[in-house]
Amino acid sequence: MPNRVVVGTQWGDEGKGKIVDILTEDAEVVARFSGGANAGHTVVIDDQTFILHLVPTGILHPGKICVIGNGVVVDLEQVLCELDQLRKRKIEFRDRFLISQTAHLVMPYHKVIERLEEEARGKDKIAPTGKGIGPAYRDKMARNGLRVMDILDHDLFNKRTEWNLKSKNHFLRKLSRKEFASIKKKSLEVSKFRRRIKPFIADTVLFLNQAIKEGKSILFEGAQGAMLDIDFGTYPFCTSSNTTVGGACTGLGVGPAQIDEVIGVTKAYTTRVGNGPLPTEQQNEVGKRLQDGGNEFGATTGRPRRCGWLDLVILKYSFRINGITKIALTKLDVLDAFNKIKVCVGYKYRNKSVTEFTPDLDVLGNCRPVYEELPGWHKETHGITDYKDLPDEAKKYLDYIARKLETPVFLISTGSRRDQTILP
Ligand code: IMP
Repeated sequence: MPNRVVVGTQWGDEGKGKIVDILTEDAEVVARFSGGANAGHTVVIDDQTFILHLVPTGILHPGKICVIGNGVVVDLEQVLCELDQLRKRKIEFRDRFLISQTAHLVMPYHKVIERLEEEARGKDKIAPTGKGIGPAYRDKMARNGLRVMDILDHDLFNKRTEWNLKSKNHFLRKLSRKEFASIKKKSLEVSKFRRRIKPFIADTVLFLNQAIKEGKSILFEGAQGAMLDIDFGTYPFCTSSNTTVGGACTGLGVGPAQIDEVIGVTKAYTTRVGNGPLPTEQQNEVGKRLQDGGNEFGATTGRPRRCGWLDLVILKYSFRINGITKIALTKLDVLDAFNKIKVCVGYKYRNKSVTEFTPDLDVLGNCRPVYEELPGWHKETHGITDYKDLPDEAKKYLDYIARKLETPVFLISTGSRRDQTILP
């Protein structure tokens, strides 16, 4: 079986959790490569809903080995919560869960700093998920971070934590003495997770490369989406890691030649949580119908997602930077309710046509989308599992997307359950 990377091609929340869950059947190892607890993967199995933020969803499959790679920022308390949840539901994970020794920690002070920093931004808020992701990656890049392996060295851990608290005085001095003392205590206590986390700490680079050598197939599980990538997304309204395909290599220590397929998970329309431009946003009845029909509320924060029509300008760019080889198209059934479906093929900005993505937020925020209109099917596709049962208009919509993106659709999702899927 091939080594596959699964990435989101829009602003996250494309339904990667379900796609990863399905493709896990074909893999022996599932590895997360970027982001942190800002991701939320919802998987529905036999009417049981699982929401995992850090532990790869592959853990729900007996026998599959799950890896949190060095590119992920890890909140150990959250990991332990998720493991407790799995234990309660009698899902065994002891010998098949690994955390990279060099993954960086999200510390309690990161979350506080994120909150204080966001407050200080005034009207230019990013609206992050509140999981301390930005400050944790910032410390990693500034070489101030603490890594998972550092909790094993008590003195080093305490020394670095104390130093970090001191050097972050600019924000932390806004806290009262009591609040600061509490954050300090909580931060120093992270090393107490040592006993429970130690069995899972591993040299995941060695593990993954050996697994590949042995012919095992790896599923590289992306988080968020291309437009939230720190380099390629709608900066600064993005996350702080590489959510695109390159992140799989740097976030796991695996060479690019080991990747056989790049699956681009694409929602049949567009959504976004948090601030930043969304050219095809529909702040009207259409947006409301997409939001209700698609249950577009964040898995991590519960925030309502902003909704709009499919945007091919964004997708062409996203497919280019990821080298997507196959499309997994999700939430097709949410469009069942529409008589006509619009797809954005370009933008008009100050009377000029824009056909390629630009990182210029003024253009993205103030352009007028140019739409092509396709007939809706106005029939129920929810739960369909056979391609030939789809209405002709739905097939045409899929063909249209594949043609425009010059990439085949290889999987179609028609509902949140694992079995509500059209496979090749
Ligand atoms: P952060 O990753 O928490 O720093 O958030 C930065 C931006 O990315 C915010 O606009 C978030 O709403 C957005 N974001 C982060 N993770 C996700 C995700 O998994 N799905 C959708 N949006 C996300």
